[in-house]
Amino acid sequence: MGKRVYNFSAGPAMLPTEVLEASAAALVDYKGKGYGIAEVSHRSKDFDAVMDEVKARAKALMSIPDGYDIVFSQGGASQLFLTIPWNFLQGSADYVVTGEWAKKAAEAAKAYGTVNVLASSEGTAFDRIPTGWTPAANASYLHVCTNNTIYGTRWSTLPEHPCLFADMSSEFMARVVDVSKFALIYGGAQKNLGPSGVCMSIVRKDLYARIPKSVPKLFNYQVLAEQDSRINTPPTFGIYILLETFRWLEKQGGIAAIEARNEEKAALIYDAIDRAPDFYQGTVTDTPNRSRMNITFRLPSEELTEKFIKEADKKGMVSLKGYRTVGGIRASTYNAMPVEGCAALARHMDEFLAANGKK
Ligand SMILES: Cc1ncc(COP(=O)(O)O)c(C=O)c1O
Repeated sequence: MGKRVYNFSAGPAMLPTEVLEASAAALVDYKGKGYGIAEVSHRSKDFDAVMDEVKARAKALMSIPDGYDIVFSQGGASQLFLTIPWNFLQGSADYVVTGEWAKKAAEAAKAYGTVNVLASSEGTAFDRIPTGWTPAANASYLHVCTNNTIYGTRWSTLPEHPCLFADMSSEFMARVVDVSKFALIYGGAQKNLGPSGVCMSIVRKDLYARIPKSVPKLFNYQVLAEQDSRINTPPTFGIYILLETFRWLEKQGGIAAIEARNEEKAALIYDAIDRAPDFYQGTVTDTPNRSRMNITFRLPSEELTEKFIKEADKKGMVSLKGYRTVGGIRASTYNAMPVEGCAALARHMDEFLAANGKK
């Protein structure tokens, strides 16, 4: 293994070293066959076995009930912002806008019908999860983004709705969710699951009845599911990395154990913020809904922010810069980030405060 640092990137993000090593080995010589897993047909027996195992493991990890399909597709969640309403929006759909991605999802859906933005926290720089809204009675679905990657909020309690759609890109398999409460869960893989270029969707099968005939097969969720995500060549190596991640997740004790670790990790950093709230200014006011995946805060000045990032880098902590339009610091602490990485960051915060805070 080469050098590894604590990588707080928001995505593509750190992956477990074991997952990378196992994937790298399979890339060169898959099970001693003399060829790599990226060098076989997506319709080969080798890849059939990968698909069967990846779905079985996802089903077991997330306790996905019968009546749902797992679909892997190419591209990012942004493509699905379009594909989903194309398939499932008839008339109108409800969106709660908690951040930039939720807003983009709502914008994209406008091409397919009426979008009701039930509530938005944009007016307060997405510092909270909006409350006091009610879903429309006749909307096709209610769409939420469960974790706000950029501004650092999450829905600690998820809303209830008979047709709940969720973008879980930045907390897929990072917390326990009751899949039966959702009609559709989707996300890009590049934060918690694997590399960019692969999306995973969990679709309740009764939704298929709604798909208009005009949706081409390549984008039709039912066809994608029936063809086992292989209507054309899927991102095979990306899917293989997901399989290694799912094996790793199981070894960690499953999603409940990972969630407990994620709580512990986030608490280390939030405690450091809360010990010095004048120096480390959390950007989220709605503290029960602070993200466990993307922890955002500001320092008193741009100079101090730069210095904080530079000194962290020297200590082996990278990619702490906030989103380009937001600034400040963002520490992304996805499943692969070890507790020690968060402890190291909390220590850096305390030391930096001691050296640079008001005496
Ligand atoms: C919550 C969320 N949704 C959607 C996206 C868009 O993903 P992509 O760039 O893969 O389209 C992101 C990207 O960071 C995200 O964090």
